[in-house]
Amino acid sequence: MKKFLLPVLLLVASWQLTAKEGMWIPMLLEKYNLAEMQEKGFKLSAADIYDVNNASMKDAIVLFGRGCTGELISNEGLLITNHHCGYSNIQAHSSVENDYLTDGFWAMKRSEELPNPGLTVSFLEYMEDVSDRVLKGTEGLEDEAFQNKIQENSERIKSEAAQNGKFKTDVKPLFYGNQYFLYVYKVYRDVRLVGAPPSAIGKFGGDTDNWMWPRHTGDFSVFRIYAGKDNEPADYSPENVPYQPKKFFPVSLKGIQPGDFTMVFGYPGTTMQYWPHQAVELTMDQRDPDRVMLRDKKLEIIGRDMEADRKVRIQYASKYASISNAWKKWQGEINGLERLDAVAKKLEYEAAFKNWATGNGRWESEYKPVFENFDTLYTEYGKYIKASDYYSEVVYRGVELFGRAKTLNSILADIEGKQADKAKALCESMKKGLDGFYKNFNQPTDEKLFVSLLPTLVNDLDADFIPVEVSEIVHKYSAEELISKVYRKSILADRAKLEKLLESGSDKQILKLRKDPVLAIFNALNFLHETAIFPNVKSLSAAIDANLKKYVAGLMEMKKEQAFYPDANLTMRVTYGQVEGYKPRDGVTYDYFTTLKGIMEKDNPEIYDYDVPERLKELYREKDFGRYAAHGSVPVAFVASNHTSGGNSGSPVVNANGELIGVNFDRCWEGTMSDIMYDPEVCRNISLDIRYALFIIDKFAGAGYLLDEMQIVE
Ligand code: ARG
Ligand code: GLU
Repeated sequence: MKKFLLPVLLLVASWQLTAKEGMWIPMLLEKYNLAEMQEKGFKLSAADIYDVNNASMKDAIVLFGRGCTGELISNEGLLITNHHCGYSNIQAHSSVENDYLTDGFWAMKRSEELPNPGLTVSFLEYMEDVSDRVLKGTEGLEDEAFQNKIQENSERIKSEAAQNGKFKTDVKPLFYGNQYFLYVYKVYRDVRLVGAPPSAIGKFGGDTDNWMWPRHTGDFSVFRIYAGKDNEPADYSPENVPYQPKKFFPVSLKGIQPGDFTMVFGYPGTTMQYWPHQAVELTMDQRDPDRVMLRDKKLEIIGRDMEADRKVRIQYASKYASISNAWKKWQGEINGLERLDAVAKKLEYEAAFKNWATGNGRWESEYKPVFENFDTLYTEYGKYIKASDYYSEVVYRGVELFGRAKTLNSILADIEGKQADKAKALCESMKKGLDGFYKNFNQPTDEKLFVSLLPTLVNDLDADFIPVEVSEIVHKYSAEELISKVYRKSILADRAKLEKLLESGSDKQILKLRKDPVLAIFNALNFLHETAIFPNVKSLSAAIDANLKKYVAGLMEMKKEQAFYPDANLTMRVTYGQVEGYKPRDGVTYDYFTTLKGIMEKDNPEIYDYDVPERLKELYREKDFGRYAAHGSVPVAFVASNHTSGGNSGSPVVNANGELIGVNFDRCWEGTMSDIMYDPEVCRNISLDIRYALFIIDKFAGAGYLLDEMQIVE
């Protein structure tokens, strides 16, 4: 009897543990998840979440900008997302005179809402499994020929579905190419800023509290989508009208209890749950530490200049936040993977797979080569990705003058290629972009980045990855000389001269730029990257993916009874779990919610990120909480066990009835490794309690008129 019971119990336990992991495809919920969701308390149907023929929750969700999620909360196009998702837009409207970052911004009527050129929101019209069509005609093809055929088929599917530009379309691989899905979007491009709290609320706790629980960040901002009179996408125009969505979320004031069902619906960016141990090792031992070290340098330099000058603080606020965000996550990721002993776990998993394959007589012929390939491929890949990471952090996203060099290069290439018209147009557009660039540029900061990052690149990478002339310059000059003899000798460091050249320079004058010192360095580096680094990264990644495709197909065969979810790829996913705190370490238990009281506890007028606004203190003192009160205060944030990732920022967190209870904005520190390995014990998503957003809009900002268009469930 005993012998029989034990394995059954183990099976149940492991199912419960893995039950919370997963970012599921909305179209397939009925098949894989609905029963379990309902068991956990969900009261609606799969068609309430995703339906192509009738309005469903998916119609109330957008991909916000290029990498966040947002949701509709009124039938007049009102949308809520995170403060950090709207951050670059809020920053763009800010100056020392109108510092919306520090003071917040609220439109008190529609005409005051601020347009954001370039900002779009995308609604998913439908998704479709197009595996058969994508793979058609690929039988017997390999490597490049195989990839080309896939590419060709995908392009045809995309262009058919686009209906002459009416829709934006995408075909994406799932399970490393074991499946392909088509995604069809309608993209709205007149999206206006309605309101944002001051950073002391929207970014409260700043980078210190980022990726941490307990958390007190009011991380939300409000936008409105505008459409043409026909409700279809239109370029910005004062004539446009608020977009009428097929569906929007009712907002719940009923609050949350531990154990309550929660669901997060949005656009998680990238996860790597099926990686073999070699990939995990490479990330922990090389990639994360390299990138953290390079960003340490950047953050120190930029941070010091921001602290010293209010103008620089505004100029670099958005850049600093995004450098710091991944920098901190990578550190948490290393910790988490070490704590989980992730490489050992992967090895165990791979051993079980080997057992299975051996039992089926398929190890030697089919899978052993796959694992041998992983060994050689990841070793090779490691060399090139190291160089690639350095180039990315230093050349392409580090020294900003290099970014300018890139544009100039295209102009030069056009002139040399006798494409006078194209060159002229590029000069024109670069000239137009100068204001935008210099608004957020402080040359002394960039010079410091230059003399810190360039030598690091040269000294750390193998000589093969550094052009000889660049290495010579770096070794010949001291830091001061690098600034005076290289950086400042460049026309790129002289706005007036550059502007004049772009406006009225002759071809001959422009061609002289070939001798410009910064441009020359950039070109040498860029050439080496394009010829000796990038192509290898690309082909090695493709080879790795081809092996992953076989491995994952094998895994799915091995565990036929288990539902698999494809790694996140910035497509719409559903994840579900429940409201719950966690135990971060021995002897410590974290509660599931935070309140306004905690904000008062963290108050520190000396520190920008913790300087609680006077008005908020006043509301707290007077206990003016209105209908948003709970726990004798106002609830601010909560944690739940939903498997989320970057891109889920701004995602709706909904309760069992499909009402909005929160806006997802982060993960907790102990769970930052969840992109690679999920741990149900400590992985929690952090959400803003929607009641805090309403409290801030209504009581703090005095923009309560916005609540009139919402559907509030009390
Ligand atoms: N960590 C959150 C996310 O990954 C929020 C980032 C924005 N906040 C910040 N302090 N940088 O995106
Ligand atoms: N803050 C993240 C974002 O911008 C979401 C949190 C996460 O990575 O889980 O998407």
